[in-house]
Amino acid sequence: MGPGPSNVAPSVREAMSRPLVGHLDPAFVKMMEEIKTMLRQAFLTKNEMTFPISGTGSAGMEFCFVNLIEPGDEVIIGVNGVFGARMVDVAERCGARVRKVEAPWGRIIDARQIADALETVSHPKLVAVVHAETSTGALTPVEEISNIAHNAGALFLLDTVTSLGGCPVRIDDWRVDAVYSGTQKCLSCPPGLAPVSLSPPALQAATKRKGKVQSWYLDVNLLASYWGQERVYHHTAPISMNYALHEALRLVLAEGLENRWRRHEQNHLALKAGLKAMGLEIASQEGHQLWQLNAVTVPEGADEAAVRKRLLSDFDIEIGAGLGPLKGKLWRVGLMGETSSKANVKAFLSALALILNDSGRKTDIEAALAAVG
Ligand SMILES: Cc1ncc(COP(=O)(O)O)c(C=O)c1O
Repeated sequence: MGPGPSNVAPSVREAMSRPLVGHLDPAFVKMMEEIKTMLRQAFLTKNEMTFPISGTGSAGMEFCFVNLIEPGDEVIIGVNGVFGARMVDVAERCGARVRKVEAPWGRIIDARQIADALETVSHPKLVAVVHAETSTGALTPVEEISNIAHNAGALFLLDTVTSLGGCPVRIDDWRVDAVYSGTQKCLSCPPGLAPVSLSPPALQAATKRKGKVQSWYLDVNLLASYWGQERVYHHTAPISMNYALHEALRLVLAEGLENRWRRHEQNHLALKAGLKAMGLEIASQEGHQLWQLNAVTVPEGADEAAVRKRLLSDFDIEIGAGLGPLKGKLWRVGLMGETSSKANVKAFLSALALILNDSGRKTDIEAALAAVG
C-alpha cells in the first residue's frame, strides 16, 4: 500500500514466467501489436505512435523531452512536487530554457498560472505538467491548461505515471501531445516499462528537428522502425516485461476503464471516511485529492517513521513516507490497481488504529470500520 509498485495479479506474475521467444519472433511481434492496441484503449487515444519504452516511468519522461526539445527551446513546467522538479531537470539537460510554474506541495497547478507564464515567453515550445503528483497526492485538472498551451502555439506534455488506470486519463479529448506513464502503479504490473504516446504534431516535431535526438536509445525515429511495421532491430526488448504488460492491460480492459476508475474512487472515499472517524485527514487540496495515492497527515504526537515501521513488521503493510518538505509530515497510502480494495482499506485502518492506540491515542476502531461501510 505504498506509492508503487502496487500488487500484481497472479496471472501477471505467471505471464512473466512463460518461456522466452526472440524479440523479432512472429509470436512476439503479434503481441507487440496487441500491446499497442490495448495501450491506445487505456490512454483513450488513436495516436499511431503509442508503445512501451523499455525502462521505468522516468525513461518515459526522458523519451518525451529528448525527442521534443532542442537546445534553446522555451518550456513551461508545472512544479508542485518531486516529479515536476524532475521534469525541470530532464528538460534542462536537453538544453531547454525552462520557466517553472510553482505551487505549494499538495496543491494543484492553476491554469491561470500557466497562462501568466506563457505571457512572459516569446516562442513556447512545450507546456508540461504532472497529472497525479505521487509525492503529494494532488490531481491537477489539465484540460484548460492544454487549451491555453495550444492557444499559445505550444505542445502539451502530461505525466500520467500514477493516473493511468486509476482515474480518467483522456489523451485525445484533452489534446495531450506527449504522454508517458509507468507500469507499476494503477496498471498493476511490475516496474520496467513506460507506456508513451505522441500525437501527430508531437511526432512531427520529433522527426523534423534540426539536430539529432541526443539519446540514441530513446530516439523515436529509431524506435519507430522497431515498434512500427519495419521491425528493424533496435534493442532487445524485455520480453518477459512485455508478457506482463500484455496480461496487465488485458485485465484493465476486462474490468473496464470506467469500472476501474469507480473502484479507485470508492476505496479512496472509504479510506477517507474511516480516517475522518479516527480524527485523521488527507493533506492534499480538497476537491483535487488523488484516489490512488492518499497523503495522510501524521497526527500531533505520532512518530511518523515508527508507525510505518510497525505497520510493516507487525502487519505486513507497506506505506510510503512524505518526501522533500513533507518528510515526517505525512504517510502516503497507495490504493493502486490490485491494491485498491475495501479489504485493504480495512486492514490498514485497523492496524493504524491499533498502533496509534498503543502510543496512548484513543481511537475507536469500530467507528472507523463502520465508516468504511
Ligand atoms: C508522477 C511520477 N512521475 C514519474 C515517476 C518516475 O517513475 P519511475 O520511478 O518508474 O522511473 C514516478 C514514480 O513514482 C511518478 O510517481
